[in-house]
Amino acid sequence: MRPSRLLLASMLVLLASSAEARTLDDIKKNGKIVIATEGAFPPFNFFRGPVLTGFEVDLAEAMAKRMGVAIEWRALSFDALLAGLRQDRWDLVIASFGITEERSKAVTFTNPHYCSGGIVVSKDPAIRTPADLVGKTVAVQTGSTYLENVSKLTGLKEVKNFPKDTDCRSALVNGRVDAWVTDRFVAKAALASSASAGLRAGDFVFVERIACAVKQGNASLAQAVNEALAGLMADGTYEAISRKWMNEDIRCR
Ligand code: ARG
Repeated sequence: MRPSRLLLASMLVLLASSAEARTLDDIKKNGKIVIATEGAFPPFNFFRGPVLTGFEVDLAEAMAKRMGVAIEWRALSFDALLAGLRQDRWDLVIASFGITEERSKAVTFTNPHYCSGGIVVSKDPAIRTPADLVGKTVAVQTGSTYLENVSKLTGLKEVKNFPKDTDCRSALVNGRVDAWVTDRFVAKAALASSASAGLRAGDFVFVERIACAVKQGNASLAQAVNEALAGLMADGTYEAISRKWMNEDIRCR
């Protein structure tokens, strides 16, 4: 049976409207913002038992409160997060994404909510600088800026990538790789939480600014997030959340 013209027309309307990102007004009317994160990147976003928590979870909750909306959280694999924005499966992503030129072609970044960078982590005191990685096997998360930047180094024996950053940590702890390149604060937390593993934090491989992402061109939402973040940075809330998780204020300066 051939679909009627009316059916075809209404399908087109549906397609067109589902391809439209929700503006700030749409979200406010609905009362809920859908935010996606990974949930496997402590201390930024991770699960404590069944509970999604971390610096970025607290920060997003505080931003949403300022915007007058509730959050409906989604937790997905890291590589699914930006793609889902393009498909309007959620309104915002907060998952420690560094602002890169490549990503900026696909999504719109807000102002950064922290500044950090990828550092060398190893058990071997002789492996602490990017130059020390020559001839070594290095673990990095798939799709991350760690992979991107480590791939630019020459002379490595092998770059092993894992879907989750926590798998990189396990590979290092179990001696399957010589080094792990990850966020400096992730490394700091890993060193503190598993002191017996003998991990050591080395030097920066690169630095980056970390921000939330919205669908490309969703300016009203990006602006609302920027305003909420600026408010939290001005009234002490940001500093309190940052100190709770990191023992320091990690905003970009
Ligand atoms: N900052 C790095 C990047 O931009 C890693 C982010 C990892 N985030 C995560 N939720 N696992 O690619």
